[in-house]
Amino acid sequence: MTKKRIITIDGPSGAGKSTVARLLADSLGFQYLDTGALYRAVALYLRRYGVSEDVTGETLTRLLKGLDTGFSEGRVFINGEDVSEAIRTPEIGHYSSVFSARRPVREFLFAIQRAYPEKYDTVVEGRDMGTVVFPEAWMKFFLDASQQERARRRYLQLVQKGIVVTMEEALKDVQQRDERDSCRELAPLRQARDAVYIDTTSMGIEETIKKMLEFLIGNG
Ligand code: DC
Repeated sequence: MTKKRIITIDGPSGAGKSTVARLLADSLGFQYLDTGALYRAVALYLRRYGVSEDVTGETLTRLLKGLDTGFSEGRVFINGEDVSEAIRTPEIGHYSSVFSARRPVREFLFAIQRAYPEKYDTVVEGRDMGTVVFPEAWMKFFLDASQQERARRRYLQLVQKGIVVTMEEALKDVQQRDERDSCRELAPLRQARDAVYIDTTSMGIEETIKKMLEFLIGNG
């Protein structure tokens, strides 16, 4: 079987990765994998067991043995239950960042993520796609934006979903997640050396995608 092409998109919370990744995948005819959704699904599952930040590695490993998670037709499931909406709350956003620093969680999701692009060309989006999970990827991008702008986008996203949040809370959430996702020991958020850096602070979605397509054409 010919090797499938993988495009990685990494970057901090609120840099616009999900929207851009989905549209880029559509325009190229690739499938799309949102790995943050998998971390969120794990967090929701663990929270339902009442797990908190100080959980031991043994408990995490034991609980994860009972979890079957993944995508089906663009929806996220945990043990057969569609949790696509339930994982989008600020609380699960917080815990996904907390639990994603833990080795049993990262090891559990590593194999699941690696299995996705086996059959199809895929755009994968997350924090460590280009550095850890798919270091051999065909093309790598790192999307960034100022903290203020990312907080503004996160705020609008939550308000659109009817979730009550202030701009200050959105900014605090972005700052805390930046700190946790970048400073953790395992697979911290980093730009891969061979990734193209794009600052989207003053760029719209269309413009960002156009820029990425230019790089892809230049590369392909
Ligand atoms: O992209 P997101 O906000 O849905 O991701 C939720 C959390 O999951 C994020 O704060 C860090 C973690 N995550 C990760 O550690 N590695 C990934 N590849 C994707 C997400």
